[in-house]
Amino acid sequence: MENEVTLLATSAMGLEAIVKREVKQLGYEPKVDNGKIMFNAPLSGIPRANLWLRTADRVKLVVGESRIESFAELYDWIYSLPWEQYIPEDGKFPVIGKSHQSKLFSVSDCQAITKKAIVDRLKLKYGIAHRMPETGALYRVEITLLKDMATVTLDTSGVGLHKRGYRVATGEAPLKETLAAALVLLTNWRGEDILVDPMCGSGTILIEAALIGQNIAPGFNRNFAAEEWPFIGEKLWNEAFKEAEDLAKYDQKLAIYGSDIDHRMVEMSKQNAAEIGLYDVISWKQMQLKDLRIKEPNGYLISNPPYGERLKDREYVESLYQTLGDIMRNHPSWSVYILTSHKQFERLYGKKATKRRKLFNGFIETQYYQYFGKKA
Ligand SMILES: C[S@@+](CC[C@H](N)C(=O)[O-])C[C@H]1O[C@@H](n2cnc3c(N)ncnc32)[C@H](O)[C@@H]1O
Repeated sequence: MENEVTLLATSAMGLEAIVKREVKQLGYEPKVDNGKIMFNAPLSGIPRANLWLRTADRVKLVVGESRIESFAELYDWIYSLPWEQYIPEDGKFPVIGKSHQSKLFSVSDCQAITKKAIVDRLKLKYGIAHRMPETGALYRVEITLLKDMATVTLDTSGVGLHKRGYRVATGEAPLKETLAAALVLLTNWRGEDILVDPMCGSGTILIEAALIGQNIAPGFNRNFAAEEWPFIGEKLWNEAFKEAEDLAKYDQKLAIYGSDIDHRMVEMSKQNAAEIGLYDVISWKQMQLKDLRIKEPNGYLISNPPYGERLKDREYVESLYQTLGDIMRNHPSWSVYILTSHKQFERLYGKKATKRRKLFNGFIETQYYQYFGKKA
């Protein structure tokens, strides 16, 4: 097994630049190509990237890349790759696929051929005459074709990286943890200043902020598919978890406040925070936005308010945005960050954003309105 591997971090559309920055911070040199963030790393990069990347969906190990224009080429190329270096005799390896603007557009055929080529090679290498057992650890293979360039990967993450292991309860429209982390990383808040989400729902933004503020690896409370892979081994995982433990600043004091009009949401936030050991780090209370009182300068307000997508909610949401604008007008030293799909947000809030950025909340196209405060 070579010690250097090529990894691919996948992310939601719009978050690529943030994932790239995170990969760089881990000490690797990322390249972005067609929305894919690729980087070379020693084997220890697999545990480290899975543990630390806050905004990536998954970390995949690139087994090969090649230009492929026919099924015969696909079979020969997949067969030529050193699968036995990765997948042991009992490994389970379902194959999924994607194809975009390529001659081989039948995804099911690409999957079947990829599977057959891997099975044929592994049977030969392991001297298996009959069916492969596939009773062991999971090695999810993905074959993707983009403009005839094929990439075949193994998914090292298992469950998507947004599953941090703390979400025991959610409200109606919870943010994905990866997007919530991105919302925080797109601000200059790094833990020193006060941070408020006055429409916190199940608390995702603030919990992600607390993890960032205390430098806690987001994957610290979960498992990953590649923990079961013998070619990586327990030692590298233990070292990565140890590194994360050493770097966490559990004693770092943070001033993080969450509130919501709905007391059930506040309870959920508390439960979620408690699940990850942040119960005492964040202050929660049931409160309406209009009762928000700001006493200190230079704070940050980050929120994902209701969008008013349903007609019956429109009027309510519009007056909510006006209320927010009325409150924040009196606090010019505060920076305000709002994610919404409502096209008239700036008009209702009463001010043009310093900056805006298109982001997708699931399938909903939203803008991230960013108002930079003038430090007092
Ligand atoms: C889109 S959800 C926030 C979801 C949250 N980011 C999460 O990840 O769970 C919007 C929240 O705004 C709250 N809300 C609506 N009107 C409010 C008001 N007037 N004051 C405070 N909170 C309000 C709702 O109860 C809801 O929990």
